[in-house]
Amino acid sequence: MIDTASLAPAFDAVSAAFPGARPAWGMVLGSGWSEAASGFETLGELSYADIPRFGAVGVAGHAGRLLWGRRAGVEAFIFRGRRHLYEGVGLEPVIMPVYLAKRFGAKAMLLTNAAGGLRKDWAPGELMVLADHINLMGVNPLIGPHDPFWGPRFPDQSAVWSPRLRKMLFEAAAAAGVALREGVYLAGSGPTYETPAEVRAFRTMGADAVGMSTVPEAIVANAAGMEVAGVTCITNMASGMLDQPLTHAEVTETTARSMEKMRALLLAFADRFASTAP
Ligand code: HPA
Repeated sequence: MIDTASLAPAFDAVSAAFPGARPAWGMVLGSGWSEAASGFETLGELSYADIPRFGAVGVAGHAGRLLWGRRAGVEAFIFRGRRHLYEGVGLEPVIMPVYLAKRFGAKAMLLTNAAGGLRKDWAPGELMVLADHINLMGVNPLIGPHDPFWGPRFPDQSAVWSPRLRKMLFEAAAAAGVALREGVYLAGSGPTYETPAEVRAFRTMGADAVGMSTVPEAIVANAAGMEVAGVTCITNMASGMLDQPLTHAEVTETTARSMEKMRALLLAFADRFASTAP
């Protein structure tokens, strides 16, 4: 389990930079989604490099800045850029957004990402709400000595993805005029994309999208008692489904093309979330 004592200096750094911050929720903007937060009023900003153990983000398209924002009168911590397991620096930076949001009193996390589509009837550019996940990353962030900060020793996984927030995402999508799918997200470790045989296996297992992130954050946030929601952009058809190789360029192009849709959805969600926040 991630030792929270080793994360405490990060809390001190953010406390010093954002005096009086009281975020009601946190949002992680994955692969290329950093601009999707442009509808928030900026109360403060901090580079991940200035947060101990969070560090610099190594992948192009990941901004690596924490925005202390406000929308509809409610504060949020918006993490623009994500650290990944495949960077090889452990899970501390990966789950740091959840740790910080929780330490500052946030009650919910919204996680965004990009993924390969496993369904032939879905097209690249479509957005999917996470209904459930399959963890094939080969690690679990809660392995290790038990720390009550992260809840019980054996956290229930029957409703990791909050039904209340999923409903709210669909209401937000309807209000914003954005089409939304719902499905199961399967996470591998990366950094390789999948083989065609893996893609066939994952479809048989019941997954609708495959990616390299999000599940560690969801596991710790849920265990710590937070409401969790997620939105995936299907950026490409998964390996072997089309007769062409898969490139990171395809992923970033679809992300850019879907930015306005994602932004409209997230802002409509923020407005709805604010209206129910205590
Ligand atoms: N596989 C894994 N991760 C991804 C993909 C994919 O096809 N597309 C975007 N992230």
